[in-house]
Amino acid sequence: MGPRLIVWPMLTLGEVFSMIVIDGPAALDGELKVQGAKNSTLPLLAATVLCKGQTVLHNCPHLSDVDTAVRILEHLGSRCQWQGDSLVVENAMTCCQIPPDLMREMRSSIVFLGAIVSRCGEAELCFPGGCELGPRPIDLHIGALRKLGVEIEESGGCLHCRAPQGIQGTYISLSFPSVGATENVMLAAVCSQGTTVVANAAREPEIADLAAYLNRCGARIYGAGEGCLIIDGVQELYGCEHTVMPDRIATVTYMAAAAVTGGNVTLRDVDNTHILPMLAPFEQAGCSVRQLGRALNIMAPPRLDAVRHIRTMPYPGFPTDAQPLVMSMAAVGRGTSIFVETIFENRYKHAEGLQRLGANIKVEGKVAIVEGVEQLRGAPVMSHDLRGGAALVVAGLCAKGRTEVGGVEYIRRGYENLAGNLASLGARIREVGEPTP
Ligand code: EPZ
Repeated sequence: MGPRLIVWPMLTLGEVFSMIVIDGPAALDGELKVQGAKNSTLPLLAATVLCKGQTVLHNCPHLSDVDTAVRILEHLGSRCQWQGDSLVVENAMTCCQIPPDLMREMRSSIVFLGAIVSRCGEAELCFPGGCELGPRPIDLHIGALRKLGVEIEESGGCLHCRAPQGIQGTYISLSFPSVGATENVMLAAVCSQGTTVVANAAREPEIADLAAYLNRCGARIYGAGEGCLIIDGVQELYGCEHTVMPDRIATVTYMAAAAVTGGNVTLRDVDNTHILPMLAPFEQAGCSVRQLGRALNIMAPPRLDAVRHIRTMPYPGFPTDAQPLVMSMAAVGRGTSIFVETIFENRYKHAEGLQRLGANIKVEGKVAIVEGVEQLRGAPVMSHDLRGGAALVVAGLCAKGRTEVGGVEYIRRGYENLAGNLASLGARIREVGEPTP
């Protein structure tokens, strides 16, 4: 039989790979409820390891990182079940080890360490994965846990941890207010003998959300959200119901989408106090932002002004996670905007994609200088991390023509139905290609 002619159906790039396809520009208009916070849900799920019985987390976002945390919990022995937007966790511990493939799926898997070693007296896990924003060391986590009496041996990229005398409360001073290290210490010390004081603790709202859940389970944690944490160890914790705080970075993502498209959008279920550190660039760019109770309305001008100067800092400074989203705004702003990224060493990868869309950006180490242009033009671009991918989607919304954003798996880690939510506000956007199994 001669060679057979195989005719492939014409596939766009989007059909071959998982892509978000946008035909811009289109002004956004309408209302949207903001999802629960990814960066609160993940430590909360780790905390259920410590809490006997049932925990119900309401307002839980459906994200791939949450799926990974559920797989870790089930590997440890718990049973998890979704009921709409609530996740029910029946706690049980039959194992104190996390397999490398699960550890490598996300950065926050390291936060399970404190909880496992507190509950079981030992833990086996390897170094975590997560978005490549530069080296993601865990020296602060390890140093603090060792001070709490945890013996940690590192070999072959894995951590062998034991607490033969149990966790002993102590004084810890973090050289940097690391969010993850603060969470790990809280989870390790909450059922310790004695009291732990953490100086220079992270003050992000997610820390206060975690402390609120643990205190409702019977913990005695004071000063969460301030610079100094005091944790009086207790004997036991029992699960409870808790509502996850709104996602402040998802909020600012939809605000940026409204801003670049000259839109008028109202966001519901917002915690407006968490948004205050991020308001300045929107007002400098000429947007009108009205905050009322748990709602926020943003109205944008036909053309944005520059955001002038953004320096990322630990909370309550301008958050590093919002930097890529505001850079998309600056890309089409009238004038020059200067960014200084002080938290991560390599968090400008989205600049390459923005430049492909026509943005004028110069990156020099921690500094990025953005000269706003009149109009971006659609093109195929690639996400390299979660918030950078979202920034490319935001830029695609105002670009003229078709933009295809690849690497959607990064975006799915932190955004619940980003394309569908933007489409409900009038964007011509769709996600094509099945999520990779
Ligand atoms: C959390 O990451 C968030 N992730 C990040 O959000 C966020 O960007 C970051 O806090 C800062 O706000 C989650 O909550 C799951 P860090 P984390 O420890 O805990 C250095 C997103 O897009 N450091 O505060 O990893 C580190 O290298 C993600 O949602 C050490 O040097 O952040 C970085 O430069 C991205 N040694 C800085 O501190 C350590 O042991 C901030 O890290 C730990 C951290």
